[in-house]
Amino acid sequence: MYVCICHGVTDSQIEAAIDDGATTMRMISEELNVGNQCGQCCSCAKKLLNTKLIKIAEAQPAVA
Ligand code: FES
Repeated sequence: MYVCICHGVTDSQIEAAIDDGATTMRMISEELNVGNQCGQCCSCAKKLLNTKLIKIAEAQPAVA
């Protein structure tokens, strides 16, 4: 699914960037240009980022 129409960025590309270490919208924007033109994709991209980061955090073993 396309998230950023201006730059043709998909949800898979955003998730791959997060898997590669991106943890903020700024990092995703710097890597994929998401949100740096019209800005319409920012809320969707941020939702994807937060959902993915929560999944990553939940997959981590609990620290005692
Ligand atoms: S849709 Fe992403 S900057 Fe326009």
